[in-house]
Amino acid sequence: MEEKSITRKRLDYNNKLILAPMVRIGTLPMRLLALDYGADIVYTEELIDRKLLRSIRRENDVLGTVDYIDKTDGTVVFRTCSREREHVVLQIGTSDPARAAQVARMVENDVAGIDINMGCPKKFSILGGMGASLLREPQKATDILRKLIGTVTIPITCKIRVLPDLEETLRLCDTLASTGIAAIAVHGRTIEERPQHPNRNHVLKQISARLSIPVIANGGSKDIQKHSDIFRFKKETGCSSVMLARAAEWNCSVFRKEGSLSIESVIKSYLKHAVNCDNSPSNTKYCIQNILRELQESPLGKRFLNAQTLEQICKVWRLDDYCRSKSEEFRSKGLLGRFQVMP
Ligand code: FNR
Repeated sequence: MEEKSITRKRLDYNNKLILAPMVRIGTLPMRLLALDYGADIVYTEELIDRKLLRSIRRENDVLGTVDYIDKTDGTVVFRTCSREREHVVLQIGTSDPARAAQVARMVENDVAGIDINMGCPKKFSILGGMGASLLREPQKATDILRKLIGTVTIPITCKIRVLPDLEETLRLCDTLASTGIAAIAVHGRTIEERPQHPNRNHVLKQISARLSIPVIANGGSKDIQKHSDIFRFKKETGCSSVMLARAAEWNCSVFRKEGSLSIESVIKSYLKHAVNCDNSPSNTKYCIQNILRELQESPLGKRFLNAQTLEQICKVWRLDDYCRSKSEEFRSKGLLGRFQVMP
């Protein structure tokens, strides 16, 4: 019998603008917004391997999404859709090659690439042998990457932080690159350093000069307010691609080559995606809070903070009619939406 094979374009990490992985921020509506504004690649928030393995894959015909639903409580662990399929990189938190490979097999046809978080300094990650603890365990880190590369055909990458010592950092990058990863994202701060510390752009420059794979520069948001700042950061670091976290969290339209848009415009576009994706009110609210920041103190901000449902949030930006009509459309197609109360 003739075998049908679907050929997919392999994700290229060269010369790209990338939405960084961000817990709670990098859910589907924000990823779609980043793509609208011109990001080439969008990373998911970090998802822990065990949590993904507890989920089941469901095609959601009403929303046109693919959902990974937690078997124990029915919550959406990961929601994606065809629009982002060739652009989305799933970031996994893991300490175990076999578990990581199991996840990779499960999601392989739904995402464009898989990234391993090797930079998270949080206690939960370190105690679990995940995130930044892998920087001190190169054998385990390379075991995970090799296992993944041997298991799936989509590209595998990792995201690291720099170490305090330059030579040690370069040695670590050599070791990780030797596994056959497609690219490496480097945040130019050490585990101990906080966002207010300067990013070590000179270290990123040395890494990118040394490795033959694309190096993705990260950590520059403090000095990135507009599109042209992205390219200054790129030049300073000599890297192939740039990955933005906070600059995109605050105003995702920073990805637009035509120039950034007002916060109001960004929030409205974000909200439409949130409604279309049936995003949870709590996640939607969290993302908008991080766009508004000090504007939460304004009268509009206070009205927003009082909103509980997606429709109430939408009302602050006069999108309540849009929300209601979408919600009715979804209900009529059989979706039991969660438009009512905040979980
Ligand atoms: C992060 N960061 C992060 N990193 C990662 O590898 N996985 C993750 O899930 C998260 N989550 C996350 C949430 C939020 C709210 C922020 C602000 C940051 C770190 C992030 O990807 C990035 O490395 C740093 O923020 C530095 O880049 P910027 O912000 O200077 O562009």
